[in-house]
Amino acid sequence: MYLRKTILATGVAFSALATANFAHAEPTAEVLHWWTSGGEAKAVASLKEDFEANGGTWVDSPVAGGAGDAAMTVLRSRVLSGDAPAAVQLKGPAIQEWAEQGALADLNDVAAAEGWDDVIPAAIQDVMKYEGDYVAVPVNVHRVDWIWANPTLLAKVGADSAPTTWDEFNTLADKLQAAGITPVAHGGQPWQDATVFETVVLGLGGPEFFQSALVDLDEDALNSDTMKAVFDQMRKIRGYVDADFPGRDWNLATAMVMNGEAAMQIMGDWAKGEFLAAGKVPGKDFICAATPSENGYLFNVDSFAMFNVSGDDKVAGQKLLAELIVGEKFQETFNLLKGSIPARSGVSLDKFDDCAKKSEADLQAAQEAGGFLPSMAHGMALRGHLAGAIVDVVTAHFNSDMSSDEAVSRLVEAVELAKD
Ligand code: BGC
Repeated sequence: MYLRKTILATGVAFSALATANFAHAEPTAEVLHWWTSGGEAKAVASLKEDFEANGGTWVDSPVAGGAGDAAMTVLRSRVLSGDAPAAVQLKGPAIQEWAEQGALADLNDVAAAEGWDDVIPAAIQDVMKYEGDYVAVPVNVHRVDWIWANPTLLAKVGADSAPTTWDEFNTLADKLQAAGITPVAHGGQPWQDATVFETVVLGLGGPEFFQSALVDLDEDALNSDTMKAVFDQMRKIRGYVDADFPGRDWNLATAMVMNGEAAMQIMGDWAKGEFLAAGKVPGKDFICAATPSENGYLFNVDSFAMFNVSGDDKVAGQKLLAELIVGEKFQETFNLLKGSIPARSGVSLDKFDDCAKKSEADLQAAQEAGGFLPSMAHGMALRGHLAGAIVDVVTAHFNSDMSSDEAVSRLVEAVELAKD
């Protein structure tokens, strides 16, 4: 609390740290992020408000594009031209990659003052630290393996809940299709194809298979009958989407479920942020259910890394922002809007809905059962070039009539090449 308390106590925008190191610096932060959809924009606005209420000047740098592919391209060019933004939405192994380049600032002083080691779960600390030093702060825990369904459309074919096995999923989708309803709302962008793919890997293969195939990149797992069955299921899902799916943004696919144009979307719980932003009520206007799996949970932790910048105002801004992000108040406010759950301990879920409570309960169960796994599609499991190799094959298969055999051999080959 040291930065915030001093600012609030004095009413002036300088901090305890500023007195020592950056006399009278006014905290300023340029924040690069990709939160531009309805729910995302509301959530990031809550961070901006918090920052400004604590004396900070926020310079907004949004780069539209789901899952951040476009934002990462902008980041690379900004860093190359020696003009890194102060705070960047960054995740998983990408944090380590930028830290290896010497691009990230260390946040150990804020971490020590705020006791982060006691409130950030160890598994998340590992992602936020480089060689023992904090270089990033976690915002939330998003779950990827969800189905978002329209209960009115399900009821039209006599279903009152989402499917609990992939066979049930197919049977339900067939019935919906026969009734003239688009079973699956999908946006044909590589990361969305990969999002669906990894939930199928988890469901059909189980947690151990997911770990071997998509985290450890084990050749036997990649080159297996199970992986063929995964591609078979992807082919089925391809048959359940509407003709206009290519290039569609994920939030437009969510809107299709909301508006009764499609029955289900497989997407992370940022989709819930869209339903909530549109005033929809979980359990009434929409259903949240885990995609079929045995105690699986694919996690995706959004975080901000602080890049090396010069100027006392910018450094003060990074520290203030980091402190606020890990704070209990922000973690509650932001996650209520974003669809995710808090990344730190000590935040009550009392104000959260049943989907968030299910996420937390399933997370605990998955941790006990060994099913708590990093999302490959959302940059938590693999470095960019390795994930990219997998995603390319998944997309090529989804968008053609490639056989499952061919997809598996391409997958094995692509991963081997990327590993070298
Ligand atoms: C991010 C979410 C974001 C989603 C869609 C995910 O990779 O973790 O915060 O809402 O992409 O852009």
